[in-house]
Amino acid sequence: MSLPRCALLWARLPAGRQAGHRAAVCSTLRAHTGPFPGALGRVPAIACASSSASGGSKAPNTSLFVPLTVKPQGPSADGDVGAELTRPLDKNEVKKILDKFYKRKEIQKLSADYGLDARLFHQAFISFRNYIMQSHSLDVDIHIILNDICFSAAHVDDLFPFFLRHAKQIFPVLECKDDLRKISDLRIPPNWYPEARAIHRKIIFHSGPTNSGKTYHAIQKYLSAKSGVYCGPLKLLAHEIFEKSNAAGVPCDLVTGEERVTVDPDGKQAAHVACTVEMCSVTTPYEVAVIDEIQMIKDPARGWAWTRALLGLCAEEIHLCGESAAIDLVTELMYTTGEDVEVRTYKRLTPISVLDHALESLDNLRPGDCIVCFSKNDIYSVSRQIEIRGLESAVIYGSLPPGTKLAQAKKFNDPDDPCKILVATDAIGMGLNLSIRRIIFYSLMKPSINEKGEKEIEPITTSQALQIAGRAGRFSSKFKEGEVTTMNREDLGLLKEILNRPVDPIKAAGLHPTAEQIEMFAYHLPDTTLSNLIDIFVDFSQVDGQYFVCNMDDFKFSAELIQHIPLSLRVRYVFCTAPINKKQPFVCSSLLQFARQYSRNEPLTFSWLRRYIKWPLLPPKNIKDLMDLEAVHDVLDLYLWLSYRFLDMFPDASLVRDLQKQLDGIIQDGVHNITKLIKISETHKLLNLQNLSAESQFRLSGATKSQSRRNRGTKALGSKAAEPLGPDAEEKSLASRLVQQGLLTADMLKQLEREWTTQQAERGKARLETGAALKGTRRKKKEPDSD
Ligand SMILES: Nc1ncnc2c1ncn2[C@@H]1O[C@H](COP(=O)(O)OP(=O)(O)OP(=O)(O)O)[C@@H](O)[C@H]1O
Ligand SMILES: [Mg+2]
Repeated sequence: MSLPRCALLWARLPAGRQAGHRAAVCSTLRAHTGPFPGALGRVPAIACASSSASGGSKAPNTSLFVPLTVKPQGPSADGDVGAELTRPLDKNEVKKILDKFYKRKEIQKLSADYGLDARLFHQAFISFRNYIMQSHSLDVDIHIILNDICFSAAHVDDLFPFFLRHAKQIFPVLECKDDLRKISDLRIPPNWYPEARAIHRKIIFHSGPTNSGKTYHAIQKYLSAKSGVYCGPLKLLAHEIFEKSNAAGVPCDLVTGEERVTVDPDGKQAAHVACTVEMCSVTTPYEVAVIDEIQMIKDPARGWAWTRALLGLCAEEIHLCGESAAIDLVTELMYTTGEDVEVRTYKRLTPISVLDHALESLDNLRPGDCIVCFSKNDIYSVSRQIEIRGLESAVIYGSLPPGTKLAQAKKFNDPDDPCKILVATDAIGMGLNLSIRRIIFYSLMKPSINEKGEKEIEPITTSQALQIAGRAGRFSSKFKEGEVTTMNREDLGLLKEILNRPVDPIKAAGLHPTAEQIEMFAYHLPDTTLSNLIDIFVDFSQVDGQYFVCNMDDFKFSAELIQHIPLSLRVRYVFCTAPINKKQPFVCSSLLQFARQYSRNEPLTFSWLRRYIKWPLLPPKNIKDLMDLEAVHDVLDLYLWLSYRFLDMFPDASLVRDLQKQLDGIIQDGVHNITKLIKISETHKLLNLQNLSAESQFRLSGATKSQSRRNRGTKALGSKAAEPLGPDAEEKSLASRLVQQGLLTADMLKQLEREWTTQQAERGKARLETGAALKGTRRKKKEPDSD
């Protein structure tokens, strides 16, 4: 097509219509690609322009670009101007033109230069074709060009600008790729903290094995300073320093995601504050800052919080405590800020030894023993078997409220309490001071969720094993020597191997986008969901080699959950950063419910919340009740967390805190009687064991087959079912084995099936509450006790 021809056609328009339409057509033609391109003879100039715009960055993952819908045009009040100027289009002819256009190699190549790879090209073409074929009347410019092509007055390639205009409409990201790259440029993170860059900080790295006094020495400095901040990985650790500091006469506040305690009765901030690392201020000046467990900087989900604290804290002295594996990375990072790192190395304060014999049987337990399991089912079955032996045990696992964990720790530590055995998950790996003499690994296999969101069971890492083993023989406890072993003889070799492996140096520190960055993305891509924005952000982001972008699956899970609720982006972002346990349907549906109330502008009052959680709650009668109460405790945590971000909408934090204390008490009592609850849940326990069996089968299908076999053998130790499993036992179902062993009758099996079906139906009902939004999202476990 050429403009003179267009002008000729113009002459056929009634005079009154010419002016308005002329302006519209000409401005449209100019707007989409600048100078109107003709046949492909002019293509190289366009291609050059676009390739320079891409800036040579890596190609984006176009599968993340979700096409927007462009509706075909309905009848226009002005009539079909294109048809008036030319003639009505023959749809069959148009379809042929479009098919020809789609097949043109030159068009595909040109499209690629504009960022439309094969996938986007195809999607854009389908949308473009639908638009053209289904529109009642087309834009004048497209109508004219199609008409010209029909009459061989223009080339089929002349459709390209119109196609590109359409493609940019459905993929707005094509228009702003360079801006998006700039916004998501995560290189040089030290520059994000101007206050910290304005001072020269002294960095001291306290390195050494567990129980070597690293935190102790850093805290001494903190206590003797005029002002200080302690940044810990867990609420319990922040609490411990808060209490220690105040007990030592150094007034100290507490800040966690869900809690703010100012020791001053008038609410004036103390000079010292103990907080969870995510909550530390990077604008308040301090004399001394302590960042505990600095090796967590490599954590795939939470590492960003340590990076932020390390680069951003405004303190004259920064004391880092942690594994030596982090020294090189920290030194490198501090090189970019121009700060030196002084390394102080410590030795273990008490000896620890790996025993040459496994425990083999729970009959061999001694006071001060701690059995470490990696699943709740194991916790239940071990505590029950301990009880059968007439012994009392304390129980600690991640999802217990902090108060309950402390109460159980206290019970175990108390020399006058008959409870001398602890059964725990790796939730004790960091934080609690426990009087443990011997750590017994019940299993060395830990379930986790891999990057694809799939469940995996793998041997624990050296770092995890050292952390857990390091709980034995704490310097402050009555046991001046620690011992480590396994439950099962066959695991001992693997434990020694794991413990003797060198810990790999940490290579990169976590980063994560800010709310502002996501907001700017949303400005450019207004119709994109928050979850999709995050994906595009991570894909576009550029990081230096010492950094990585943290896994944002948890955030995306929440974003998808509340996507359909109308909220401003800021508010939505905050809701999505609320730490929730995605394994708890009640917690997920509560996030949804809270967001819904918020969007209706209905404050979530105490009385509303009481009704919502059906307060008052009864003491647990079985394990399921206990788990439900734990979930309610998490929901109250969620309320408190949100109350610090949206004071007006969550106005009753202090009442909720009191309620939560009461609930903690109920849970504490429940856990105190946990073996009774397990006994009452005998039926459920069998079902749980069925789950275990599935887990074992899963293990057997993986590379860790022989290891799993050994572990599975250990699970039954000490119980009636501990009779040696035959070589083909693992091929038989649990039910048939129990029937074989006379523990289950056919009637009982039927009853179990009925209960199981009912239970599944109930669960399904609960899940319905969280709606379709839960569908397709990945579930990932919350860090134990993390913020
Ligand atoms: N010099 C000391 N005087 C008195 N108590 C100490 C001393 N050093 C350490 N402790 C106590 O020993 C215990 C272990 O010390 P600390 O917690 O500092 O070890 P850590 O190296 O930080 O261990 P982890 O790696 O497990 O965190 C603590 O209860 C601490 O208070
Ligand atoms: Mg420590």
